[in-house]
Amino acid sequence: MEQQSAKRILLGITGGIAAYKAAELLRLLMKQGMEVQVAMTEAACQFITPTTMQGLSGKPVLTSQWNDTGNGMAHINPSRAADAIVIAPATADFIARLAHGLANDLLSSLCLARNCPLLVAPAMNREMWQNAATQRNIAQLLADGVQVLGPDCGVQACGEQGMGRMLEAERLAQDIAAFFQPRQLPGKRILITAGPTYEAIDAVRGITNRSSGKMGYAVAQAALEQGAEVVLVSGPVALAKPPGVQGVDVVSAAQMFEAVQQHVGDCDIFIGVAAVADYRVAQPSEQKIKKSAGSLTLELVPNPDILAHVASLPHPPFCVGFAAESENLAEYAEQKRRAKKLPLLVGNLAQQAIGNDDNELVLFDDSGSHILPRADKFTLARQLMQHIALRYKGAGK
Ligand code: C5P
Repeated sequence: MEQQSAKRILLGITGGIAAYKAAELLRLLMKQGMEVQVAMTEAACQFITPTTMQGLSGKPVLTSQWNDTGNGMAHINPSRAADAIVIAPATADFIARLAHGLANDLLSSLCLARNCPLLVAPAMNREMWQNAATQRNIAQLLADGVQVLGPDCGVQACGEQGMGRMLEAERLAQDIAAFFQPRQLPGKRILITAGPTYEAIDAVRGITNRSSGKMGYAVAQAALEQGAEVVLVSGPVALAKPPGVQGVDVVSAAQMFEAVQQHVGDCDIFIGVAAVADYRVAQPSEQKIKKSAGSLTLELVPNPDILAHVASLPHPPFCVGFAAESENLAEYAEQKRRAKKLPLLVGNLAQQAIGNDDNELVLFDDSGSHILPRADKFTLARQLMQHIALRYKGAGK
């Protein structure tokens, strides 16, 4: 077998508080066998010293284009020696400069002069992230073929809470490694449902469940990484869609069904990850139901089974279902797979899965069952997508 040569990364650090995470990222990339050359902007050096990065990488850090002792091409040469440039953290300012093709310091020049892929990990205050200008710049980077990793949602250095945190170093290292994996499903169209549904009882109340959408969103990200075009139909969740997916937001199962019917026509693979409510209220009240001393009876009627509908189409896509059971996983999951006529069903224990960051999966298909041991949902989603790609190709699709 051909020996894969070590990937060479030019790690660019820009001036944000998340720069401290770049030291850990550098360590993790090197642990994966990658060769890393660090370049820092002037502002980055205010947050973390080049000495730290030099010590960890074992190489002098590039900070200026003016102290070149070579051929005077310091603003170009390092990018030629890289398989990818990774900017982590990428500040709002640096993203703006990338979007406009500015080259007014060493790192921005290296990015403009590159002939290799560029990956950026945004890190900024939530208002800066949400600002129309930043969103415009991110859209421009995506249109230019730049890979955008994150950002994440959570507590920020400023004390505010929201989107804009840089992904943790471990997740970034995984994303960068995944970027170099061969694409298994280039150009394939994958439709994914994710999150819970919300079935209205009245104007303010409803029936829903504790699904966070994390697994479905991770599967969407993993599908993108395999080169697929992804449509993500999502119930109400507090997650940002992975950049590059076509997102469709829905609330109820009926809306999810409608959105799936609209997009299923030209899709190659359908993955139902959503925790769709089995029932809806027969006649939701338009007004808030007033409290009374007596009991309240709600009539519930079954929702359409979206996955079963798709799987029984005359020319169905390759269908993958999820089954969350609280007991007898193997027996119930295999029953469900047969009942819904699915080539592949992913089983998990509801009490371990719902809302958590970690999970354990069991894959059921014609060849039997296969365990994906406990791991974070992104790791599992990547392993699952590899399995789906294998089975999809095996099905002669
Ligand atoms: O039958 P059960 O709800 O356990 O099946 C779970 C699988 O079926 C999941 O893949 C889920 O997304 C899908 N499903 C659906 N529409 C429903 C109920 C479940 O697509 N109404």
